[in-house]
Amino acid sequence: MSDLTDPRELVGALVTELPEWLPTQRWFAGKDRPITGVRPLSTTVLMAGDPLLLHLVVEVKQDDRREPYQLLIGSQAHLPEYLGSNWIGTEKGLPCYEATGDADLTSKLLDLIAGDARIGSLRFEREPGAELRGGLRARPVGAEQSNTSLVFGHHYILKLFRKLTPGENPDLRLHRALHDVGSKHIADLLGSITGELDGEPVTIGMLQKFVSDAVDGWAMATTSVRDLMADPELPPDEVGGDFAGEAQRLGQAVASVHSDLRRALGDEIADEVEFDRTVKAMRDRLDTVSRAVPQLAEHAPALRAAFEKLREAHGPVSMQYIHGDLHLGQVLRCVTGWLLIDFEGEPAAPAAERVALRSPLRDVAGMLRSFDYAAHQMLIGHDEDDPRLTERALEWARRNRSAFCDGYAKAAPETVGDPRAHGDLLRAFELDKAVYEVAYEHANRPEWLTVPLASIARITAGGEQP
Ligand SMILES: Nc1ncnc2c1ncn2[C@@H]1O[C@H](COP(=O)(O)OP(=O)(O)O)[C@@H](O)[C@H]1O
Ligand SMILES: [Mg+2]
Repeated sequence: MSDLTDPRELVGALVTELPEWLPTQRWFAGKDRPITGVRPLSTTVLMAGDPLLLHLVVEVKQDDRREPYQLLIGSQAHLPEYLGSNWIGTEKGLPCYEATGDADLTSKLLDLIAGDARIGSLRFEREPGAELRGGLRARPVGAEQSNTSLVFGHHYILKLFRKLTPGENPDLRLHRALHDVGSKHIADLLGSITGELDGEPVTIGMLQKFVSDAVDGWAMATTSVRDLMADPELPPDEVGGDFAGEAQRLGQAVASVHSDLRRALGDEIADEVEFDRTVKAMRDRLDTVSRAVPQLAEHAPALRAAFEKLREAHGPVSMQYIHGDLHLGQVLRCVTGWLLIDFEGEPAAPAAERVALRSPLRDVAGMLRSFDYAAHQMLIGHDEDDPRLTERALEWARRNRSAFCDGYAKAAPETVGDPRAHGDLLRAFELDKAVYEVAYEHANRPEWLTVPLASIARITAGGEQP
C-alpha cells in the first residue's frame, strides 16, 4: 500500500462498515439491538506499509448503550483468497479485513510481547521470569465464544478480549494471584497486552502456556454420557467411560483453586446488605426473563421462595474471589490433572457484579448445572419422553454431581467445607443459574429450553439433591 495513506483516514472510512459487520461476529455481545453508530477511540499501527496491521478500539453505540470493542485490522493491496472470508470493506481502494486469521500478521503480537515493546499507548509485557520464543505462526482457536484466542505453534495461547472494560481484566488478575501462590490448576501465565481507555489502563490481551495435551471437560463428560446411553442395562460403574472418578478429581481441583484464591486475595463475611443485593439481583433477573419466556412464569413463585431462603442461611457465609462462570467447558483435563481456564466471569453480567466478592458455592452450583446439561443434551433430538433414557440421564447426573461434591469437600476452603452442608444456598445459586440458562437458550437455542426448565421443575419440587 502507499505509505501516503493515512491510517486514521482509512479507519474513518472503515468504521462506517462496522454497524453491518460487527453483528456477524460470534464474539459481538450486542446482538440484541441495532447499532446506531461506531466511532474510533484509538488507532495503533502495529505494522506499517503493505501489509498494514492496525490495532483498533471502537466505541459501539446502541441507543443509550456505548461499549468499547477491540479489533485487529489488516490491509493489503492484493488480498490472498483465503483471507477473503474475513473481508470487512474496501476503503480508499484498499481491502480491509479482520486480521486475527492472518498468521503472517498475528505472529507480530507474540514478537512484541517477547520484546516487551511499547507502541503508542499499547504496552506488551512478559510476566516476570517468563522466557518466550518469538517467530511462531498463530491460528485462531475454533471454539472461542466471547473472545478471540490465538494459538502460537504448540506453545502459547493469546486471548484478545473483545469487549473492553477499563481496568485490569479479572481473567488476568486472578491468574496472576493464583500464579503467585503456586496454584497447580491453572495454565502458566506468560504475558499481557495493556492499552488505555478513558485515561485508565485496560487489559486487551493475555498470553498463557498452551496445554497441547488437554481435552475439555464437556467433551469428556458427554462421551461418558453417550457410553451410558449405549448400554442401558449395565450399572454405571461398569460402563466404559464412567466419569465419576474424574468428577471427583475435578471437585478437588475447583476446591483447591478456591482455597488458593482465598489465600491470595482474602475473604469477608457477607452482611445483610450483601444478602439483600444478591436476592434482589436474582429476583430482578427472574422478572426480566419471565417477561420474555412465558414458560418460566409458572415457576416464578417457587423460585422467589427459594431465593428468599438465602436470607435464612445458618452461620456466617464467606465471600471471596471465585471463577464466576464455571462449567465443564471451562476446565481442561491434561496429563497432570484438571486446569481451570477463563476467569473473566459470566459474560452477560455487568462488570461491577463480575468482580464482586461472591460465595464459592456459586461456582459449585455452576458445575452442578453443567453436569445436568451434559446428561440431558443427549436426549435432545431423541425421544425425550423415553422414560428409560431420561432415567439414565438423571442417574448419570446424580452420580457425577455427588462425586464432584465429594471431591470438593476434600480440598474446600475451611469457610465452606462440604457444599451439601449449605443446601439452601446451593439450591438458590443453582436456580439463579438455571434462570440465566433459560434466557440464553430462549435467545440462542430454543430446542434446548427444556433442559433448564425441567431442572427448575425438579429442583423446586425438592427432587434434586446435590
Ligand atoms: N491454556 C490453554 N491450553 C489449551 N487450550 C486452551 C487454553 N486456554 C484456552 N484454551 C482453549 O480455548 C478456548 C477458549 O478459551 P477461553 O479462555 O474459555 O476463552 P473465551 O473467553 O473466549 O471463552 C477454550 O475453550 C479451550 O478450548
Ligand atoms: Mg470460555
